[in-house]
Amino acid sequence: SRSKMGYREWRWQWFWWQYFFLLWSTIHGQTRYSIPEELKQGFVVGNLAKDLGLGLSDIFDRRLRVASEAGKQYFTVDAGKGELVVNDRIDREALCGQSTSCVLPLQVVLENPLHLHRIEIEIKDINDNSPWFHTKEMSLKIAETAAVGTRFSLEAAEDADVGSNSVKSYTLTKNDCFTLKMKEVEDGKIVPELVLEKTLDRERKAVHRLLITALDGGNPVLSGTSQITITVLDVNDNFPVFDRSTYKVSLGENSAKDTFVIKVTATDADEGPNGEVEFSFGSRTPDTVSSVFEINSLTGEVFLKGTLDYEKTASYKIEVTAKDKGSPEMESHCRVQIDVIDVNDNTPEIILTSEPQPVLENAPSGTVVALLSAHDADSGNNSKVTLYLPKGSPFILKPSFSNNYALITSGLLDRERVSDYNIDITATDSGSPPLSSKKTVPVRISDVNDNPPVFTQPSYNVYLKENSAPGSILFSVSASDLDSGENAKISYSILDSKVQDVSVSTYVYINSDNGSIYSMHSFDYEKLKVFQIQVQAKDQGSPSLSTNATVHVFILDQNDNAPAVIYPSSAALGSLSHQRMPRSAKAGHLVTKVTAVDADSGHNAWISYKLAEATDASLFTVNLYTGEVRTKRAVSEQDDSSQRLLIEIKDDGEPVQSATVTVSILMEDALHEPILDIRHKVTEPSKKTGRITLYLILSLASVSVLSLVTFLILAVKCIRNSRSSGSCCMRRTDCDDYKNPNRNLQIQLNTDGPIKYVEVLGGDMLSQSQSFRSCMSPMSEYSDFTLIKPSSTTDFKEVISVLDASLPDSTWTFESQQVSKNQ
Ligand SMILES: *[C@@H]1O[C@H](CO)[C@@H](O)[C@H](O)[C@H]1NC(C)=O
Ligand SMILES: *[C@@H]1O[C@H](CO)[C@@H](O)[C@H](O)[C@H]1NC(C)=O
Ligand SMILES: *[C@@H]1O[C@H](CO)[C@@H](O)[C@H](O)[C@H]1NC(C)=O
Repeated sequence: SRSKMGYREWRWQWFWWQYFFLLWSTIHGQTRYSIPEELKQGFVVGNLAKDLGLGLSDIFDRRLRVASEAGKQYFTVDAGKGELVVNDRIDREALCGQSTSCVLPLQVVLENPLHLHRIEIEIKDINDNSPWFHTKEMSLKIAETAAVGTRFSLEAAEDADVGSNSVKSYTLTKNDCFTLKMKEVEDGKIVPELVLEKTLDRERKAVHRLLITALDGGNPVLSGTSQITITVLDVNDNFPVFDRSTYKVSLGENSAKDTFVIKVTATDADEGPNGEVEFSFGSRTPDTVSSVFEINSLTGEVFLKGTLDYEKTASYKIEVTAKDKGSPEMESHCRVQIDVIDVNDNTPEIILTSEPQPVLENAPSGTVVALLSAHDADSGNNSKVTLYLPKGSPFILKPSFSNNYALITSGLLDRERVSDYNIDITATDSGSPPLSSKKTVPVRISDVNDNPPVFTQPSYNVYLKENSAPGSILFSVSASDLDSGENAKISYSILDSKVQDVSVSTYVYINSDNGSIYSMHSFDYEKLKVFQIQVQAKDQGSPSLSTNATVHVFILDQNDNAPAVIYPSSAALGSLSHQRMPRSAKAGHLVTKVTAVDADSGHNAWISYKLAEATDASLFTVNLYTGEVRTKRAVSEQDDSSQRLLIEIKDDGEPVQSATVTVSILMEDALHEPILDIRHKVTEPSKKTGRITLYLILSLASVSVLSLVTFLILAVKCIRNSRSSGSCCMRRTDCDDYKNPNRNLQIQLNTDGPIKYVEVLGGDMLSQSQSFRSCMSPMSEYSDFTLIKPSSTTDFKEVISVLDASLPDSTWTFESQQVSKNQ
């Protein structure tokens, strides 16, 4: 403002002087000098005296001098030469400011007489001032969003010089974004303008520093500079940026609550709130995720909030949003993938896909019992399930398609041994540590009728007294069956067979439910000694199985028969039968032999003879066992020629049964003819049973010796014959024939308990009685057994055959040995 004041002052002065010189010039003409500014002191502008036409003397005499209208004396006059000399520094800018022409009027004063001359000195501009900026540091604030081409006015530089020495141009330091354009304002003045050539990016360059230089047109060129600082103002033009688009992390399913999962990071290039990032789960995040995970909105750390279950969700994909706080806010997204790692936390399961079916015990190997499958909710090895069966069970597992199995049989089943199986199947997974579970599959083995009923014994012996009342329980058989149900339900029946040409069913019947056998008859031992019943036990299976058992019924003898006399013949019962004997007979003479039989057996048939009455008891004796009647002494002349003997015959039964026979004996002088009288009479029982055993042994021994002798003879004969011709087999028949008299010799030994009796039976009963007598007579004195001569041959034979059948095997062996020895 000071310089402006100076400039106005000078302008005013200049007008004043102009008026003055105009006035002056009209009188004296005008002298004008032109000099550049900034001359050295003493520089000669011109010869003032000469130009004014003054002599040298005038200079001094008239005291030539110059007076500046301004106070300051820029020039002096050299007193010697009258030259106008620069006295002081002349600064055109100081004198004339920005005026294009700068003329300094001077008053030349001459005294004696006073003359006033006016001269003008034009001060020419030289380029002695640089352009300059008022503000050395300009600052600008430009928003990032400023459009390309926008202009920003800058302060113009100033230059004290004028004309071509004043500011002519501007330059700008090289940069990408800005250029400089000039704008002309009034009176040719130019103002520089900054033009945006390229959009600004605060994030790339927040501050641009430029240097503007103003140049003048002088020679040399002078310049002035100013610093321009451009601050780019931030606009929320940047998204937050995640450092990864997808984050992946794995997490064990057994992770605890508040476990750190992952940290997401995002940066926003903007500044201030525009760059402050907040994290959150995406708006469409389902509850299933937000209930399990949470995110710290400031740090971006994700934490576990709930519990994980691989089996429910194996993987989570969460969208995370990062949002800045600018206006408008900008957001971006990333994805967090959380893979849950399976932990072996599920036990394997065994599922029966079909209920176990009962299996027939005869089912072949490979029969399907049940279908099952194994399942484990885990994955990978944790879900790999292996099934185990207990060792030794007749079942195996046959794998079918994935994890399905068929439980099949693999061995023999026997319901009678094991009727129910509880198969413990163990399932183990391959996890570490492995988990396992168990399932029991009950398998019922159903019955097949594979067991026949079994009797308690293969055969039964039943002893039944004869004459017992019919309708009583004879015996009970019982059978059992290992099977079950209908297969074990047993019914009993009697198989039809013949007993003495009559169906057995007329003798007995059986309770089909419990096997009790009832008699339907009263049995007579003398008619039927033994018979067999085939009993069948049959189960109700399909097909049914049955078993037979034999019941041997032995009829036990009761003493219900009295001895019957068969000799002397009872044909003429009641009439006397005469036995003749010579009067010359000595003592011990065999008069006759009484023979009786008893239809009973055993003791009941054990006959003893006893002389009950006699005409002369001193003459005769009767052998207790043989019934032989012998003389006790020699017959004398005094003895009656006719003697009568009453002989009592008793059996050994209980009660004793007896018979009597009367024998009449006629003594003859020449021909002895005994008279036999038969009469029956009941008398008392015999007593000598004690000695029987001894006699039995003796008789056995004698028979054995006899047999041996016979055998030796036979053998010798056999060998001889075989040397001549034929086989021994044929000869055996011959031998039999040869031995015909002894062929039917049989020894019956009752071994039921202690030996009670032996019956020695002659061969052909009808024809051999005589030979018996002769054979046995030497021993008859000592023999204590009875020779039986049956009254009815057919009866007798039947008795033998029945007895044969009823006797145990050992007895048979004995007998057969005897027979073979005989042969
Ligand atoms: C599964 O188990 C088998 C046998 O033990 C092993 O070889 C395999 O590497 C396991 N696989 C994994 C994924 O662990
Ligand atoms: C069999 O049944 C009959 C009639 O019910 C009965 O009298 C008998 O005693 C039973 N037998 C057995 C061995 O139980
Ligand atoms: C039982 O006896 C009957 C008749 O003799 C016969 O048909 C059947 O085969 C026998 N059963 C057995 C198991 O021996």
